[in-house]
Amino acid sequence: MSDFQLSERAAEVLPVHVAIIMDGNGRWAKSRHLPRVEGHRRGAETVRKVVRLCGQLGIKYLTLYAFSAENWNRPKAEVDTLMKYLAYYLKHETGELMNNNVKLETIGHTERLPEKVRQQLSETKSQLQDNSGLTLVLALSYGARQEIVEATRSLAKKAINGGIDPEDINEESVSQHLFTAPFPDPELLIRTSGEFRLSNFLLWQISYAEFVVSSIHWPEFGEKDLIDALEEYSKRHRRFGGL
Ligand code: IPE
Ligand code: IPE
Ligand code: MG
Repeated sequence: MSDFQLSERAAEVLPVHVAIIMDGNGRWAKSRHLPRVEGHRRGAETVRKVVRLCGQLGIKYLTLYAFSAENWNRPKAEVDTLMKYLAYYLKHETGELMNNNVKLETIGHTERLPEKVRQQLSETKSQLQDNSGLTLVLALSYGARQEIVEATRSLAKKAINGGIDPEDINEESVSQHLFTAPFPDPELLIRTSGEFRLSNFLLWQISYAEFVVSSIHWPEFGEKDLIDALEEYSKRHRRFGGL
């Protein structure tokens, strides 16, 4: 059992799906006069802790924004190192993920990732496919606007081919054409490092998610900070437009 416990109320209203914008690796490194990529390396250690605790708490889905469609615009050296760390993380964490009964899924244009990362992803995914605990969803080369455009395009094609009547297009059919079709919408969205923006993450899916911004940079985000976010979530009054 974990040393980190939730209050009775927070355990009662525990979100099924938590999504996290893991931000601040570069700023964390800069504040220590370290290269930005050292922040990414340390950030991977935070991923390990957060994944483990989410599983222990009984959260069913954890979506981590690991690399956005726009992050391809960063300097090549940083992108290359991030990709190297990603392949390394997947390879070296497979055992730990297995021990924690974690399943792995991805959203985003993973076909754009380097061959080595794609191979490792499919290897890790298949090794973990029979697990039944937490589903870890990595958002990789993911952009929400692009996702919505592509869903629109596939629905338009189906409508032209007679596969769907335009009158039948509804929220459910749109959801079913997104990368996230197999997962429920997140109830809680956390962003680290104090930035109050979405940066093209899950625009459709978070319509009614509760948003918690932590001022802590991702490499320093710890179990206690996740518990704090869940406690804050449990105090929110979710109204969904009602009273
Ligand atoms: C988050 O940290 C990791 C990725 C976006 C890949 P950043 O690299 O964005 O760090 P900051 O925001 O520049 O501090
Ligand atoms: C969002 O962080 C993307 C990820 C966390 C992977 P960014 O650092 O790329 O976002 P901006 O540039 O601050 O909006
Ligand atoms: Mg950032």
